[in-house]
Amino acid sequence: MESTALMTEARKAADRAYAPYSRFRVGAALLCGDGSLITAGNVENRSFGMTICAERSAIVKALSEGKRSFTALAVSCPDADYPVSPCGACRQVISEFAGRELPIYFAGRDGAIRTVTLGELFPFDALHELRERPTGG
Ligand code: THU
Repeated sequence: MESTALMTEARKAADRAYAPYSRFRVGAALLCGDGSLITAGNVENRSFGMTICAERSAIVKALSEGKRSFTALAVSCPDADYPVSPCGACRQVISEFAGRELPIYFAGRDGAIRTVTLGELFPFDALHELRERPTGG
């Protein structure tokens, strides 16, 4: 799936975000190794710190569906006038399940796509010596 098609799905997911407090909708579209697509939006809470970003929602949703391999991620922020990349917490979580080469596409209101790799966004892999136990779980 091309970046533009993946971004279109992320943009649609942003419309399903639950963001009544910030009014800053974010949509994520995660392309899985098996070719399937998982989408999610940010989910806020009136206890603001409980908010979950779109990217982490997508990762958790995918893992819950048994998917552990990912080939690309698109993030759409239709309420931002600049392209918004995954926050620091999400970079850490994405790095648990993807390699440095994972392409990440991100866009703001105008939909213009910026492309980076996870390695560019998260160059120093925190706790890499603890990463990935082959048995899972
Ligand atoms: N947010 C995301 O969903 N992903 C990001 O990468 C940036 C921030 C959400 C969290 C909160 O609901 C709103 O955007 C404003 O921070």
